[in-house]
Amino acid sequence: MSRGREQWGSKFGFIMAAAGSAVGLGNIWRFPYLTGVSGGGIFVVLYLILVAAIGMPIMLAEMAIGRGGGLNAVGSFRKLKGGLWPMVGWAGVVAGFVILSFYGVVAGWTVAYMFKSFGPLMSMAAAGGAAEAFQTFTNDYVQVIAYQGAFMLATIWIVYNGVGGGIERYCKVMMPSLYIILAILMVRSLTLEGAMKGVEFYLKPDISKLTARTVMGALGQAFFSLSIGMGCMITYGSYLSDRESLPSSVFIVTVMNVAVAILVGFVIFPAVFAFNMEPSSGPGLIFVTLPAVFARMPMGSLFSFLFFTLLFFAAVTSSVSLLEVCVAYMKDEFRWDRGRAAWIIGLACFLLGIPSALSLGDHFPRVFGMDFLGAMDFLSSNVLLPLGGIFISVFAGWSWFEGARQEVRRGGALPKPLETFWVLACRILAPIAVAWVFVGNFR
Ligand code: PHE
Repeated sequence: MSRGREQWGSKFGFIMAAAGSAVGLGNIWRFPYLTGVSGGGIFVVLYLILVAAIGMPIMLAEMAIGRGGGLNAVGSFRKLKGGLWPMVGWAGVVAGFVILSFYGVVAGWTVAYMFKSFGPLMSMAAAGGAAEAFQTFTNDYVQVIAYQGAFMLATIWIVYNGVGGGIERYCKVMMPSLYIILAILMVRSLTLEGAMKGVEFYLKPDISKLTARTVMGALGQAFFSLSIGMGCMITYGSYLSDRESLPSSVFIVTVMNVAVAILVGFVIFPAVFAFNMEPSSGPGLIFVTLPAVFARMPMGSLFSFLFFTLLFFAAVTSSVSLLEVCVAYMKDEFRWDRGRAAWIIGLACFLLGIPSALSLGDHFPRVFGMDFLGAMDFLSSNVLLPLGGIFISVFAGWSWFEGARQEVRRGGALPKPLETFWVLACRILAPIAVAWVFVGNFR
């Protein structure tokens, strides 16, 4: 079945695609707003620890499963072990579907803000009305859904064009440009008067803000931002040749991913504090604070347009990976062709996303005290991904251990102590720590 399977054109292409998947709205939209509501520095520290101790080992396990199995998330588990294991992959496909549904909505806001950069948004923001502008926008259902639809079309189009000719090709261009603009924006933000208060909020951990919620939030963020726990890296790993080293790929992708999150914090928080805004305003944070910042700088419209364009790049290189998980599943398991799978699943995701699109408006009912979008986000990041992560690490650490270790060594191994750490992380640390935080979350 895996004969004639699509492959990445080069290691660089694979890294850009995997980093493209990791770097996304999670880093630029979700990370700053969670940091803002979770008390700043302490959240950042927890996030970094969890990425290194749990996230990287799981990502390595996923890539090993994917390359070893050579199939989609479900098929790889079936081929390597069978039994109940394919259900882990199946839960991942469902998680991918759920994430993509609300991801398309937030990405749609991003596309809208690209164009709004040249409209009345800037003058409203300059007069202190950015929050109001965002509120008006999220109440305009037609606009919100239209932009969500446009974004989903772009995602479908890229996936339809395949692994090398679609995903890899676009990621190779979009990813590098993202870093350049982020650096420019960071310099601008840090040189604002009053910026240092923001840096302090961002970097100085305040232990008194440490709660079980903060830990769970940071864990969910580690999973979400690394694209792990749902078979995305399994799917991408299945397109990778045996010659490449998995550990070095994991290392590069993680560093690229963390770098973006950290840089974005240095763009947002100095600006938030410099203009006396609230860091804890929630999911609207970047859509409210950044326009206010751009409105006060020379050529602000242009910078705003660039920022939201790059955010769109970051989002689309992630959304394609979410769709690809589902498409690879339908392709391998049900012999659908790529085009059919991309269109049907993409459209279904768009429909499932509509309640999320409406849910930030003033009149939409709330679910479990959250807006619908927030509930979908919680379900995937704080429930499905951590659960997936537990099973993936147990699979690699125990059930398929010899196979996983061989796969990790193929194409360039880890230094011995790091390999031992990886084994320990998969066997004990990740399953126990994640389960512990997870249970604490519901108490
Ligand atoms: N990592 C992506 C982001 O940060 C989201 C994502 C999650 C993509 C899970 C794929 C799988 O935006």
